[in-house]
Amino acid sequence: MLAKIIYRFKQFWFGMFSRYTKADVAFVRSYLNLEEQAIFNQLPGFDKKHAAVVARKMIDIAHDDYPHLDQRKLARLGLLHDIGKVVEKNSLITKSMLVIIRYFTPKLYEELAEKGRTNPRWRRYYIHKHHGSVGAELLRRIGVSAEILSIIKKHDPRVEPFGPDDPVELKILQEADSTY
Ligand SMILES: [Fe+2]
Ligand SMILES: [Fe+2]
Repeated sequence: MLAKIIYRFKQFWFGMFSRYTKADVAFVRSYLNLEEQAIFNQLPGFDKKHAAVVARKMIDIAHDDYPHLDQRKLARLGLLHDIGKVVEKNSLITKSMLVIIRYFTPKLYEELAEKGRTNPRWRRYYIHKHHGSVGAELLRRIGVSAEILSIIKKHDPRVEPFGPDDPVELKILQEADSTY
């Protein structure tokens, strides 16, 4: 419990004070094509930074533990995993509110996320919970590979836990995503 609160606080602090730099822009350009960059650049700065940090962290994890994996694929997964958040852009404060509601009143959060599937009033909750599948659908339309889509779709272990048949790239993404 304490570890989770510290993690969330760190995440908020990171969102407030980390900057999306020129080095991040160059990193993104080297892994995403122009269409992908056009969607990626619609994310708020803190989400872009988060994606770049997760992508770099994935490369680091693979470098140490899974050197045979395709580094490019890992970087693309890290950069694109939260792309569904472009559909309903949240400020850092709104995002923190959603996290707090989810943490302290999970039943209410689940109910609102379900309502938001059809009711635009609660759409923010639906997108927040299902940003993985929303993002995968966006990327499918611009021709991203099925392999990447299936990992992005299930990247949030709170929506779908890691299964025995899931690829190691998903495990690495979840590990990198949970530390930033
Ligand atoms: Fe996510
Ligand atoms: Fe993420």
